[in-house]
Amino acid sequence: VGESTYDGGLFVPQPARPDTEGGALPARRRHAFPLGAAVTLEQLSDDPHPVLRRLRELEPVSWLPALDAWLVTRHDLASAAMRDARTFTVQDERFSTGRVVGQSMLSLDGDEHARHRAPFAAPFRAAEVDRRFGEAVSSEARRLVRALARGGPGAELRRGFAGPLAAVTMTRALGLDGREVAEVLGWYDGIVASVTAISAGESPTAAGEEAYAELSARLRSVIEDTGGGSLLAAAARGSGLGTDQVAANAAVLLFGGIETTEGMIANALLMLLEQPAAQESLEAAIDESLRLEPAAAAIDRYATCATRLGPAEIAAGELVRISLTAANRDPAVFAEPDEFELRRPRRGNLAFAQGPHVCVGVHLARLEARVGIATLLAELPRVRLAAADPPRIQGLVFRKPPRLDVRWD
Ligand code: HEM
Repeated sequence: VGESTYDGGLFVPQPARPDTEGGALPARRRHAFPLGAAVTLEQLSDDPHPVLRRLRELEPVSWLPALDAWLVTRHDLASAAMRDARTFTVQDERFSTGRVVGQSMLSLDGDEHARHRAPFAAPFRAAEVDRRFGEAVSSEARRLVRALARGGPGAELRRGFAGPLAAVTMTRALGLDGREVAEVLGWYDGIVASVTAISAGESPTAAGEEAYAELSARLRSVIEDTGGGSLLAAAARGSGLGTDQVAANAAVLLFGGIETTEGMIANALLMLLEQPAAQESLEAAIDESLRLEPAAAAIDRYATCATRLGPAEIAAGELVRISLTAANRDPAVFAEPDEFELRRPRRGNLAFAQGPHVCVGVHLARLEARVGIATLLAELPRVRLAAADPPRIQGLVFRKPPRLDVRWD
């Protein structure tokens, strides 16, 4: 896992197009949205919270030339856009993932989306996830922590614990063997490189096509092994989807559940190590870390028609980015929104999105965080951050600390 470069994932951000048109529309927009006009990608990646707060107060849907997109920062408007898939769709050919892995729930809307997603809904329900994965996640977490403990008294937990736990869990969840993780991540790297190339206006890479062909063949063999009792074989039975379609959705599940989960666990661990008293209320602390730093910070939609959202007149076809990070700190929903507060009501958190595309893996992700972190804290006495200067959570779309170095007694 340490070797994999899988940063970037499948929800790859659209490239910023230099604003060379110089026409009346860009100029008018810059004038109408002066805060948005000044925002840089560095600000959004390094320390987005101050600029997101100003945008939410003054330009809650703003035009950002740096993103070549609208940015939605208010909770009510974010929620409205996510729930209205007729107006704000994922189904657009600029969304490059669909061009590499084929159509899946991630890149469809309407009835077709429901058809692709439905077979996976039952196996990913909370009770079913506990039953299928509770023990496996716990023993994998214990195995990883014990291996770290043998090499201790210090370790880097993001690529040494959070990443491998997520990768092994998803690989096994889909019926592949835990020993295939390195291969899975190799395919992932190839696919992400291809998705990134397409986003940059280039052709899909040959290596990416080969990687997806290999992954897809491997997934199809699991799907067709009806005696195997895997989640995939179960989803495929009576689903009405072809084997290729099940494989495309499985690929999206596989990769949707690695980088995000690594970030979620790393962010939660960082906050728990900075505030050890919160370790007494683990679930609330994980929730609060998801609210303050959702590992998937933003999601993208395309306007299907000319429409109005808050102060913005959006034209058909324009990219609309919804900042889950900004919505999760909206004071209209969360009192003292920048505070890490364990007693706040548990509603309104948009870390897993909302509406038809709400994260299908949410229960498995929460299980991994809860069980993984509890195991780590129990196995490593007095685990603490190695440096006096804690690492900072960074990233434009996927946010996490670059490293999480710890020590223990
Ligand atoms: C076991 C781990 C996970 C799996 C298997 C998984 C899988 C998925 C899948 C398949 C989708 C697409 C659903 C659809 O389009 O109908 C999705 C959506 C989403 N997931 Fe997850 N996910 C996991 C963990 C996470 C984590 C840890 C986060 C963030 C903290 C996250 C955030 C999201 C968000 C924000 C969306 C909405 C994407 C959009 O609407 O554009 N997921 N997830």
